[in-house]
Order: sequence, then C-alpha cells, then structure tokens
Amino acid sequence: ASVDNWLELQTTAQLAEQSSAPIRIMLRVTPGIECHTHEYIQTGHLDSKFGFDPEQLDAVFEFVSQQPKLNCIGLHAHIGSQIFELQPHTDLPGVMTQWLLQAKQYGISITELDVGGGLGIRYTQTDDPPSIEQWVQTVSKGIEAACQTHNLPLPKLIAEPGRSLIGSACITAYTVGSSKTVPGIRTYIAVDGGMSDNPRPITYQSSYEAIIANRLSAPATQTVTVAGKHCESGDIVIKDISLPEAMAGDTLVVMATGAYNYSMASNYNRVPRPAAVIVQDGSASLILQRETYDDLIQYDCIPDHLISHDHTH
Ligand SMILES: Cc1ncc(COP(=O)(O)O)c(C=O)c1O
Repeated sequence: ASVDNWLELQTTAQLAEQSSAPIRIMLRVTPGIECHTHEYIQTGHLDSKFGFDPEQLDAVFEFVSQQPKLNCIGLHAHIGSQIFELQPHTDLPGVMTQWLLQAKQYGISITELDVGGGLGIRYTQTDDPPSIEQWVQTVSKGIEAACQTHNLPLPKLIAEPGRSLIGSACITAYTVGSSKTVPGIRTYIAVDGGMSDNPRPITYQSSYEAIIANRLSAPATQTVTVAGKHCESGDIVIKDISLPEAMAGDTLVVMATGAYNYSMASNYNRVPRPAAVIVQDGSASLILQRETYDDLIQYDCIPDHLISHDHTH
C-alpha cells in the first residue's frame, strides 16, 4: 500500500499488528518540485494535499522503525501531470535519494522508488513534450547517478505513467448541430457532447485540436468556437479554432481524448455517457456501452412515505 498521511500510517500499523505477516508499505512524500503546468494539476509542490511533508519525515521514519509489523520498502512521489520539461524529472531522483538516506538513519531499508507519472502529451501543434524514451532515460539515469554519488545499491524503479500511454490513442467524435454567429464577436457551433464527456476544458482551460472528419481535405475557412450542450456558458470544447465550414450533421473529431476524459466523465445535466469503440484495421468493436436514460435513474429511490398508498381516489 502507498501510505499518504498520518491517519493512513496509524491505521495500517494497527492492521499490521493484527496480521500474521508484516505489511509492506510505501510512503508518499511531497517532493516540493515546481512544474510549469496548470496550477490545478501540480501535485508535487510543498503546499500540496498529497503525501507527507518532507519536514515530517524524521517523525514518520521514527514511527515506522518502531513498528515491527510494518515493512517500509518504498518511497513514492508524483510531481504533477502534463509536464513538458525534463528538469523536474531530473530533480526528482536526487530528492528521493535524500529521503532514502534519511530512512537509512532509522534502520529502514528502502528498496523501491516510485516516481509517479506526469509526462505530457501533444494536444495541440504547439505542444512539444519529451518522448516516453527521453522521460524513462532521464529518470533512470537520475536514479543511477544519485545512487552512485551516495554509494547505494540501485533500487527497484517503479513509474506510474497514465496520460502519456493512452492520451493520444483516442479521439472523440461529435455530431455538429446548430450554429450561431454573434456579429463582430464569434461564431459558435454546437456539438452533442461537451463538459460531461470531456471536463478538461472547463476544469483546466485545456486546448484541443479538431477536424471535420467527413470533409477532411476541405480548407479551413472560418474561425469558430465549439460549444458543448450543457447549461454552462463555460461549456466550450474548443475556443477559436480554424475549421472548414461546419454544417449540421458533420462529424467533428477532437484529438487526444484518451486520458482524463471517460475517467472524469460525469452525468452533468443528466446527460448519458457516450459509447466507446476500439478500432483496428478498419473494423470497430464496442468497449464501452452507451449509457441509457434507464441507467441514469437506476439508483433513484422514492421514499415509502412519499408514495400514495391511498387507493380510494
Ligand atoms: C499518484 C499518481 N500517479 C500517477 C498519475 C498519472 O499521471 P500522468 O497521467 O500525468 O502520467 C497520477 C495522476 O494524477 C497520480 O495521481
């Protein structure tokens, strides 16, 4: 288990006392590394709700060293998400190795370092993230160098990439509906989805690129704003994108929606979630069923006292 805070640590210690075998844990620690990503998805700086504050580590290691049934084998950090710079990934191994040395002073032998995820992907043409290979090399060379400096054996290295593995493997296909031109201001085109299937634009002001899939080679002739179908003015899928003239019934495809879309999807406005298919060599197979209106009300209950049992009327 990755243990994030004192309550989890104390609860795990109590469970360990009752268990026949020792419980293996990792401690999540806040690395205090600033990344130039969107503030909401920075998880590693010191003012963070995630993990133990490094200032508390002496107390944490002392507590752990007094628990014979707790076997602390690893340290865990996650510096944030959608990170384009390699520097934070270069810095992290050095920071984690310091914690490892600190644990050693309390007789705790750390054999695993979990560096989390965070590698960014290309949502728009101006995004320029490092490759997975560059990220892996940066982290593993950083660990190697830090261990060499302190004459430590190499730990088992664990990583938790999410977005970079699946983000660009997926697209979202919307059907274009109405359009509205506000003279001198902008043209909106409406689609049959939005913040319930992709909450990233309204949550992080994320940018995306899109195409009109049924007229791929048509030249882009207009700048439009793609509006979602929900009751928030902020439900905008893409602001100011160059597209061919879009007509009702067109298929607007938004790129790179494989990560933090379905997993963050909601039933905002009680909109059912869309289906998903996996496509290979021109054939598609269903991997997620489209939600139905019956699905949306399956957990609704009517309290007995609100049901009329009076059959005389
Ligand atoms: C602890 C932890 N590990 C890994 C990840 C995956 O991050 P990413 O998708 O940026 O690679 C996250 C995402 O928030 C996380 O919270």
